[in-house]
Amino acid sequence: MMKWLNERLNIDALMASMFEHPVPKRSNFLDYLGFATLFVFISQAVTGILLATKYIPSADGAWASVKNIDSTVIGHCVRSLHSWGANFMIVIVVLHLLRVFYEGAYKKPRELTWVAGAILLLGTIGLSFTGYLLPWDQTGYWATVVGTALTSYMPGIGVYIQDMMRDGSVVTGATLTRFYSVHMLILPAIILLAFGLHFFFVLRQGMSATDELTEAKHRGEDIEKQSLPFWPNVAWRMILTVAVVAIALWVLAGVFPKGLGDAADPLNKAHFIPQPAWYFFGVYQMLKYFHGSMDIVGMVVLPLVFVVVILALPWLDRNPSRLKRKRPVALSVAALIVLGLVFLTYQGMESVPKPLPSGIVAHPSFAANIEPIFQSKCISCHGPGSVYVLDNYKDVTSKNIVPGKPDSSKLILKLEGKIQPQMPLGQTPLKNDQIQTIRNWIIDGAKNN
Ligand code: HEC
Repeated sequence: MMKWLNERLNIDALMASMFEHPVPKRSNFLDYLGFATLFVFISQAVTGILLATKYIPSADGAWASVKNIDSTVIGHCVRSLHSWGANFMIVIVVLHLLRVFYEGAYKKPRELTWVAGAILLLGTIGLSFTGYLLPWDQTGYWATVVGTALTSYMPGIGVYIQDMMRDGSVVTGATLTRFYSVHMLILPAIILLAFGLHFFFVLRQGMSATDELTEAKHRGEDIEKQSLPFWPNVAWRMILTVAVVAIALWVLAGVFPKGLGDAADPLNKAHFIPQPAWYFFGVYQMLKYFHGSMDIVGMVVLPLVFVVVILALPWLDRNPSRLKRKRPVALSVAALIVLGLVFLTYQGMESVPKPLPSGIVAHPSFAANIEPIFQSKCISCHGPGSVYVLDNYKDVTSKNIVPGKPDSSKLILKLEGKIQPQMPLGQTPLKNDQIQTIRNWIIDGAKNN
């Protein structure tokens, strides 16, 4: 059988090109993250196809069909695996990219390998973004409303791009159809193509780490001692890496199964506060630093710069050296960007509204006890630009509060319903311990502590 195939396809030569090159001894699991990405991608494809057999991509049916999937143990497992897999994919792709960057492996002759990899990264981000909407729950719906709205800040064509993504001016069932097809067909096709090229280039050129060996060989050194044969030594290490990743994925999906929020409500009667997936927290936080006419910088300029830099990196960084000490500028700029993103992500996580504190707080602090109540219950109507702003301390205290005297503060009277209409308008009143906490804060002098 092998012989038959070999006579026709020359498998031996193919196998040799794949398996018969030596790899430096110091190669470690970081070098195999690309392979781990492939594993996670295959897992996503399998779980995704399984989910597609049950999922209904329509505004009326999506949420219920996901709930239905969750109603069986196997269904719920598959969905948890798919959702955790998305997180794994982002993390591993980014780590792989950082490793390649650190080693300067994008330089000549591997520019095209890098470009194909950059397309894989962008495709992965696209998959996460489109996949987020599919369960049609509040989180996904509102993250998509905000995410697609960002493009509308582009001058001139922005609104058209937004409407093209949404298939209309608002996020509806038509948007869901569009996202589903991009998620299921277009992006996977692009990713498979880019992956094929990426893999082909890697096979043709060998791993960048093997270059030293080739050079040593040219100098006539005996490379036997510095290297390991790919088969079976390195291959086993790769399989071990994948096994670790697989077990981590299965354990996390088993222990923390993916939940399902309330069904999407385009009128947002519950005043749901939009919140992106954690890997977009950094971007979300960064947007808060650009106000007024500067907002275009955060919404359009920086994201475009990011895409261009990632795609064109091999030509932007013209320093031919791969030695770390000869690349101080590239490495420090990259380190700054990574630290900045980690910091912004952390800040973004901190600023996500926390669940309401319960129980009466005797001496509340504004930031820890009072603001979260306003953030979750009031800001949808009393947000920036409204007559009475409840998202910052100054506006809250500028009127309606008499420090030391809750009974003469309109804010309390409104919360208790002594002045109609009672606040929060159209919702159940605050709990007594929340109101009492706000009272205590006013009794203490309504300080910005
Ligand atoms: C659904 C929208 C909505 C929500 C949610 C809401 N408000 Fe209001 N609020 C209004 C409107 C509209 C008015 C003006 C109507 C009025 O006072 O008669 C108002 C007025 C007020 C006023 C009086 C302002 C003034 O200067 O007269 C206070 C105080 C107030 N709200 C506090 C709150 C607080 C505190 C919360 C959260 C616990 C809250 N509101 C939630 C819509 C809302």
